Amino acid sequence: MDNSLAIHPDQYAGSGGTGGHWTDIGEVRTYRREGRIIRLSCAGGEVAIRFYTEKIARVVMNPAGEPELGWNPHVLVLEPEDVQIKAAESEHEIELATGGLTVRIRKSPLRISFYDAEGREFAADGERGMGSGPRGEVACIRRTGDSDRFYGFGEKAGFLNKRGEKLTMWNTDVYAPHNPETDPLYVSIPFYLTVRDDGRASGLFFFNTFRTTFDLRGGTEHSFLAEGGQLDYFVFAGPTPKDVIAQYSSLTGRAPLPPRWALGYHQSRYSYETEAEVRELVATFKEKGIPLDVVYLDIHYMDGYRVFTFDKGRFPNPRKLIEDLRAEGIRVVPIVDPGVKADPAYRVFSEGVRHGRFCRYLDGQLFYGQVWPERSAFPDFTDASVREWWGDLHSFYTELGIEGVWNDMNEPSVFNESKTMDLDVVHQNDGRPATHRELHNVYGSLMSGATYEGLKRLLGGKRPFVLTRSAYAGIQRHAAVWTGDNRSFWEHLELCVPMCLNLGLSGVPLCGADVGGFAHDSNGELLARWTQLGALMPYFRNHSELKSIRQEPWSFGAGTEEIVRRYVKLRYRWLPYLYGLFEEASRTGLPIMRPLLLEYPDDHHALAVNDQFLLGTDVLVAPVVRPGQTKRMVYLPAGAWVDYWTDERLEGGRHVIVDAPLDKLPLFVREGAIVPLASERMSTETEAEELALHLYPSTAGLPSEYALYEDDGRTFSYAEGGVYEERIRATPSSPNRLDVDIRVVRDGYVPGWQRRTLVIHRAPAGLQVFLNGSELTLESRTGGTATYRL
Ligand code: GLC
Repeated sequence: MDNSLAIHPDQYAGSGGTGGHWTDIGEVRTYRREGRIIRLSCAGGEVAIRFYTEKIARVVMNPAGEPELGWNPHVLVLEPEDVQIKAAESEHEIELATGGLTVRIRKSPLRISFYDAEGREFAADGERGMGSGPRGEVACIRRTGDSDRFYGFGEKAGFLNKRGEKLTMWNTDVYAPHNPETDPLYVSIPFYLTVRDDGRASGLFFFNTFRTTFDLRGGTEHSFLAEGGQLDYFVFAGPTPKDVIAQYSSLTGRAPLPPRWALGYHQSRYSYETEAEVRELVATFKEKGIPLDVVYLDIHYMDGYRVFTFDKGRFPNPRKLIEDLRAEGIRVVPIVDPGVKADPAYRVFSEGVRHGRFCRYLDGQLFYGQVWPERSAFPDFTDASVREWWGDLHSFYTELGIEGVWNDMNEPSVFNESKTMDLDVVHQNDGRPATHRELHNVYGSLMSGATYEGLKRLLGGKRPFVLTRSAYAGIQRHAAVWTGDNRSFWEHLELCVPMCLNLGLSGVPLCGADVGGFAHDSNGELLARWTQLGALMPYFRNHSELKSIRQEPWSFGAGTEEIVRRYVKLRYRWLPYLYGLFEEASRTGLPIMRPLLLEYPDDHHALAVNDQFLLGTDVLVAPVVRPGQTKRMVYLPAGAWVDYWTDERLEGGRHVIVDAPLDKLPLFVREGAIVPLASERMSTETEAEELALHLYPSTAGLPSEYALYEDDGRTFSYAEGGVYEERIRATPSSPNRLDVDIRVVRDGYVPGWQRRTLVIHRAPAGLQVFLNGSELTLESRTGGTATYRL
């Protein structure tokens, strides 16, 4: 624990930052074009500029030599396009324009500013611009506009807008409570969006894997700094927040469709320690009628914490267990940490040592660190042959019927003072050796990438699922991210909303927090509220710590159990809508769970909302995040909204106070929306019998549209046309007539529903509904809700 020594004046000396012996990039001495790359030789270093698209530019400054643009530790996936650049040089300036983005370079000293397609400046160097420090630091100082708000930055505690904060990227295992100031955490995504008052947005990705710091505290300037390497950044011209995310995710990749089972309800505990305990757990879910897709095996399943083993006493027959659970529609996901126990009699270790798979110092000595299995070696995932070896080791699991793996401790976490691997370990890095100091932040991502690719090779066409704690930019291509060791605090319930929203803005759609809280002790009310929220977050897992009170759905009595059951079931009902959003994310990079600012960037009230979110464009979730609260204020953006529970219509563009008794999650559907909901089921393994299209007709007579997407949810056949898609359009032709058109546009997959209905909310009495021209007969009517068979 820190005491006041932490703020002793001496602690501030040499604490980094951009002070000290700073070398400004200085004046431009020569300027030349080499194909598509613009090179500037400056007093304080060399600079290269390259356009990747008309709206994405890369700036690289190397204080010590020619900028290197080729190195890529599996982060970038975009090849530069052949962009036409109009270049103009005058005495004081160089201008590079693509039509979508203009880069203006002042020559003496070099200062860069960026303009959008309409000629508006959206980002610019400050009084000081790029430069380098005495210990190899590189930094860039930029102007901060009066109304600039900063979002993204991956996994960070605190509220959505990071203006006023100083944030560090250095993947760290933080068991201590995640306070608003607790930084860094497990994930480094050095990307941010700037959103201005008028809703215009731009973005920046600082492509540097060293420890980096973003200082957003100043009123007029902000900066980003890395402890080493090049100053290498990408600029995204926007101009909307959605454009920026599309641009960033085109650069670092998009998430493939997860297997549908990864979107069901997951139950975890550190640990379900024996086969009998797992069987009892699953039986209880069944007996209590609570749907379940996955049970996690935490570290106790292993033989002395050796990865790729089972403890024979605790789990005498894992194959049978996995098979039996599978027959109930439930999958098992085991934890796999990077630390490999240093035990010469253990095959993974001895083979790894023999073939040079582990991290070493320059002199060839292995690096050992203490983790759960005590003295352990760590695979060097920066090398292709190690990634392949590691991936192949997963046949141990896949042969038992396992299709998903949970990567933990992959910062990597080590039980020592620095909390991680020694910084002077030299990684092989695919033939470009580099220290751990440089590659620390990508270690976890490379491990999860190796795991995903290995599982993909082994699963014969099935989609793998990988969950990771540590990550770098681009992780979305391989794994889901959960926010690590939170606690059963109401504050942490509140915190996980902006945290996951910023993760989503940073390209990671499949993310979530431990529902109920990991450390500390949960309670019925907290679990009820957290499950309500988790049910509509992208990733939904209840997980808790060894010594904490149990927090399975039934742990706090019948009242809580009933609420938890109701919301786990709600999750399964909402899967078609959620799955559609995952499909969209796989194409566009847009998050599932969206801050209001993404859809309403020029609405000042929307920009300030931290405790509500949108699912896609049409659904608004306003969780209760305080104990004892039975009402809450909700901000409804412009338009009209319908209360999901009561069908009450509420005019938007204002704050409302809504009732939220303990069994109610405030939930609203945008008027005019179509939301596909499925009938209940006990796991995603069984098909939903019914699919209902819920229509909330526009009272302004506007048509409603929705593209319904389905595929098998298990394989990659969607990439080869195994897709069902229909376009639905419902037009209120007159107050009493609704014309619905359903057109199948892709039929490479046949959905398993046996029954389809159209459910019209707030339907006027006497409404006539026509489907592709023929009148439908009313099947049933409850209050204002009319149901038709399709
Ligand atoms: C770490 C993980 C946690 C896990 C525990 C034991 O603390 O964050 O989720 O349960 O290790 O493996």
